[in-house]
Amino acid sequence: MMATDAEENQVEHGSCYDRQRELKLLDESKAGVKGLVDAGLSKIPRIFIHDNLNTSSSTATNNDVSIPVIDLGSLHEQGSSRHEIIEKVKDACEKWGFFQVVNHDIPQCVLDEMLDGVRRFHEQDSKVKREFYSRDDSKRVLYNTNFDLYTTPAVNWRDTFSCVMAPRPLDPHQLPSICRDIISKYTEYVKKLGLVLFELLSEALGLNPNYLKDKDCAEGLFMLNHYYPPCPEPELTLGTSGHWDSGFLTLLLQDQVGGLQIFYENQWVDITPVSNALIINLGDMMQLITNNKFVSSKHRVLAQKIGPRVSVACLFRQHLEPETSKVYGPIRELVTEENPAMYKDITVKEFVKHYYAKGLHGVSALEHFKL
Ligand code: OGA
Ligand code: NI
Repeated sequence: MMATDAEENQVEHGSCYDRQRELKLLDESKAGVKGLVDAGLSKIPRIFIHDNLNTSSSTATNNDVSIPVIDLGSLHEQGSSRHEIIEKVKDACEKWGFFQVVNHDIPQCVLDEMLDGVRRFHEQDSKVKREFYSRDDSKRVLYNTNFDLYTTPAVNWRDTFSCVMAPRPLDPHQLPSICRDIISKYTEYVKKLGLVLFELLSEALGLNPNYLKDKDCAEGLFMLNHYYPPCPEPELTLGTSGHWDSGFLTLLLQDQVGGLQIFYENQWVDITPVSNALIINLGDMMQLITNNKFVSSKHRVLAQKIGPRVSVACLFRQHLEPETSKVYGPIRELVTEENPAMYKDITVKEFVKHYYAKGLHGVSALEHFKL
């Protein structure tokens, strides 16, 4: 029988510590990584140790390059500015799969309150918080640590509270009262900005502005509210392992702590917080339907001594419920004889199921769907 990554990790550590038991203890505490930190530990438990990590010392971090920052402020003006913005978006999507936007029409106070709401959720009385603790993916609102806890070779220094906000509207009463109002409010802004971005992306692909919206790419919205507690030994673990996002598009709000990196031209490049900005990145489903014209890039979050760090990732994609069996494959207009279809036709559900089974680590989930 083949050893799993987790078993190999156990063997590499040279003894038979009971990894399964440690995972279970963490899970059953229902208090996440934050619970460990609150208990005041000075060394990280072994389940968090990443082998061959190469965080700062041996992997070059290229500080001379950074993802583009695009100003959306002139979008509604007459003249050539819309065209210029589309050119910038196209360039960013082809080269990086990542950019930041400023003047995006989401008020700063809403961004601040959203980050604060996430912090409040994770820092509230643990008795209230644990009511939301679950690994049942059919739940639309849940909190846990590491969705792939039992399959990952190394656990990440992160807790997450997630909610499925669309296409079916979520009854706000399912949301925790401590951040209910701001989540509802932020969601409305994100949906609006998402539509603007899908228009720009459609045009950047040379398609009509409604193309991606009409394909229902903006229909689903899955929100991940991450909390990265301070870490006593940050060089031994990660906040989030290197991964590619699963959806069509992600709107990522990060606080000012930093630690997010993108893997670009064989180097990890910092995505430095820009005030008032939102990070936009393309997910694997976008790379699939654009037949590799636009890229989904690998990114990760470092663990740090300082913290907590808070972030909100809003993924435009359906979740696991069979809301739609719509099939996605490379867009016909983008496929030519010289550039034949690279991927199979699939449903989002098929993709997400594979992504969840694979976990964050390892190769891109897209590999599995290549023709
Ligand atoms: C994600 C992600 C980065 C962050 O949720 O997919 O990459 O800054 N998050 O938390
Ligand atoms: Ni991501």
